[in-house]
Amino acid sequence: MHTFLRSLSLIFLVSSCISCSSSVEQTNLFFANAVVDEEVMGKFARSCALCHVSGVADAPIVGDIEEWRSRLGQGEAIIIRNVLEGINSMPPLGYCMSCEVDDFRAMIGFMAGTNSQ
Ligand code: HEC
Repeated sequence: MHTFLRSLSLIFLVSSCISCSSSVEQTNLFFANAVVDEEVMGKFARSCALCHVSGVADAPIVGDIEEWRSRLGQGEAIIIRNVLEGINSMPPLGYCMSCEVDDFRAMIGFMAGTNSQ
């Protein structure tokens, strides 16, 4: 019985550690770990670029570090929700129906200049 309890608490420990490390990843690294590869850039060019290169309807412009910094200050969860659901003139999914959340992370990091690559 003792061994059983010990292994049960070990499982609990391990699983709580997994969830703690993933939340650290999401809040601290802030898009820095998202990979911007050719596929992501292709999707970006076909959707986000329409508005985020020239600033259509006051869209925050690629590389406008100050503007992006203040938006990133809202926290990743809110920003991702705004991309998925849309906000004001920002359309839901940014017109990218095939984009995954990780694609959005990479694109946002690219626009905000916070990607490591
Ligand atoms: C039709 C134009 C348009 C397209 C296409 C578009 N956006 Fe936007 N986006 C906007 C506008 C306008 C805003 C500013 C909305 C506001 O804050 O009022 C915005 C804001 C954002 C924000 C900031 C949200 C926040 O919480 O401050 C992010 C992130 C973003 N867009 C990502 C994307 C991504 C990623 C794509 C491509 C998949 C994309 N957008 C495509 C117009 C667009």
